[in-house]
Amino acid sequence: MARLIDVRNLRFRYEDGAAALNGVDFRLEEGEAVALFGANGSGKTTFVMHLNGLLAGEGSVEVCGLAVDRQTIPAIRRKIGLVFQDSESQLFMPTVLEDVAFGPLNLGMSSEQAAARAHAALATVGMAAAASRAPYHLSAGEKKRVAIAGILAMDPEILVLDEPTTFLDPPGQRALAGLLADLPQAKILVTHNIPFALATCNRAVFFQGGVIAAEGSVEEMVSRFGWDFTPDPSKLNRRQRA
Ligand SMILES: Nc1ncnc2c1ncn2[C@@H]1O[C@H](COP(=O)(O)OP(=O)(O)OP(=O)(O)O)[C@@H](O)[C@H]1O
Ligand SMILES: [Mg+2]
Repeated sequence: MARLIDVRNLRFRYEDGAAALNGVDFRLEEGEAVALFGANGSGKTTFVMHLNGLLAGEGSVEVCGLAVDRQTIPAIRRKIGLVFQDSESQLFMPTVLEDVAFGPLNLGMSSEQAAARAHAALATVGMAAAASRAPYHLSAGEKKRVAIAGILAMDPEILVLDEPTTFLDPPGQRALAGLLADLPQAKILVTHNIPFALATCNRAVFFQGGVIAAEGSVEEMVSRFGWDFTPDPSKLNRRQRA
């Protein structure tokens, strides 16, 4: 199994002084799908923003064997597709089709190839009928689906979705879980949605205070912390308890 992501002792402090990551160690192997759990403010989004160079902290972050730095960021952004928590900010073109085709065009594809990719990705997320609509006019759940299509159209090796089920209705959540389960890529899914994680992920890590405080299968996390994920100090990593 190839190692796709290797993060060691990652630390990050925001400019206003808030320490958001306090030594994160994380690996992702080919074929894995990992849920990132943890309370609001525990560092999940800050962590994933380091994976494609949107933020740069201390420690090491490697993606597909490349250390994330200014030179490697363009190559890394082809390998790792990140859908933001606030995915609305990812949509900026006049039509849905142009938005989804933007990434493939940027990779150097012809406009026909890019449009074909975009149509296929929109069909995958159930948004084919919206191709000519303005992203601005879509519902929140529809925007989320289009943002996901934008990433799928680039065919990255790793998918990173930050809170992908936010705004999706229950059938939409099930459809997304089914879609993700069928995709061959390795995945990192930041979510508070345990049924969704159970349906999509074979491993889970639990963020607390800017570190990974526990990890195991999704089922193990649920049995250790309960369905409301109230952290029990006796069940966290030893380093965290100390
Ligand atoms: N731009 C920023 N400037 C300053 N502090 C920030 C910024 N973004 C996040 N933080 C702080 O960093 C910490 C981690 O935030 P982060 O967004 O990574 O949490 P999260 O686990 O993704 O939470 P949520 O479940 O609410 O999305 C929090 O204390 C947050 O207030
Ligand atoms: Mg977040």
